[in-house]
Amino acid sequence: MPCLVTVGGFFGDEGKGKIVAYLAKRDNPTIAVRGGVGPNAGHTFAFEGKEYKVRMLPSAALNPSTRLLIGAGVLVNPRILLNEIAMFKADDRTYVDAQCGIIEQQHIDRDKSEDHLKSKVGTTGTGTGPANADRALRTLKLAKDIPELSLYIEDVSNSVNFALEAGEKVLVEGTQGTYLSLFHGGYPYVTSRDVTASGICSDVGIGPKRVDDVLAVFKAYVTRVGGGPLENELSEEEAKKRGWLEFGSVTGRQRRAAPFDFELAKKAVRLNSATQIAVTKMDVLFPECARMRDWNKLSAGAKKFVEEIEGELGVKVTLIGTGPELDDVVDRR
Ligand code: IMP
Ligand code: MG
Repeated sequence: MPCLVTVGGFFGDEGKGKIVAYLAKRDNPTIAVRGGVGPNAGHTFAFEGKEYKVRMLPSAALNPSTRLLIGAGVLVNPRILLNEIAMFKADDRTYVDAQCGIIEQQHIDRDKSEDHLKSKVGTTGTGTGPANADRALRTLKLAKDIPELSLYIEDVSNSVNFALEAGEKVLVEGTQGTYLSLFHGGYPYVTSRDVTASGICSDVGIGPKRVDDVLAVFKAYVTRVGGGPLENELSEEEAKKRGWLEFGSVTGRQRRAAPFDFELAKKAVRLNSATQIAVTKMDVLFPECARMRDWNKLSAGAKKFVEEIEGELGVKVTLIGTGPELDDVVDRR
């Protein structure tokens, strides 16, 4: 830390939620602040056998001493946010930037009914694209206009910058993944904003020189939901055989799957100026590594895979996910 930005290296669903939840527990940041698009993301983590999902709050929500902030670039669905605040009993430590855009029912209706969005792009139907379109037209409502949010409003960029000036730890949480970026992904099969590290910092209101580390999170294989190309895509049958079949946490849609893509990963390292890498779901690729927390105990095959990633990408793999529980991590920092 002190200022660590986490981003997805592929198409989202890399397991960022679990990594952020682990870091929040392990490193105890003063602030966790969320950038990214909005409630189209679903971050999942498990702690002491219970599974949690967040779509609006930072995945640091389980650490009661971390303040949970949402940056101005993030779209807020007030209903989802208020539910999550209640679920994590976080009403005294959650803050939303006054200038967060607000998703209304009409945005969700448009997202679900426009053929281009629904059938071609295959959006999550959560209203984020239409809301960001309205934001560009400067007609979108902002958080400061919503009475139900009045308790939670603050200037998030000030809070984050003041904390960093005071030498406190700040965890900046990106959502989606590099190749869903509106600018750097495979348009039009992308989300409605830039979600690389620079975009995430802009969402939150910190300049590029404020960041100490960028952690790019990759899954041990690649998955994607919705339309768009996926190199070396496996058949459903093959994905099932390998145990790579997953279902989206927001939409429940079946995810498409492919082997780890070194070329995509290399470019993601450049686009995000990654200084560290996390590889998640290593236990799916190497079942003998399930729940291990010690590098020395990993199998030769698993170590070789990690070393190949480091060799090809030129960045250290600092965190390795070996299971769904928050602490199922090999921490090599
Ligand atoms: P939208 O962000 O809902 O507009 O969807 C645009 C594209 O991004 C679709 O292919 C979605 O499946 C994908 N997408 C958006 N958010 C996520 C996410 O958090 N994980 C995985 N895919 C996502
Ligand atoms: Mg997800």
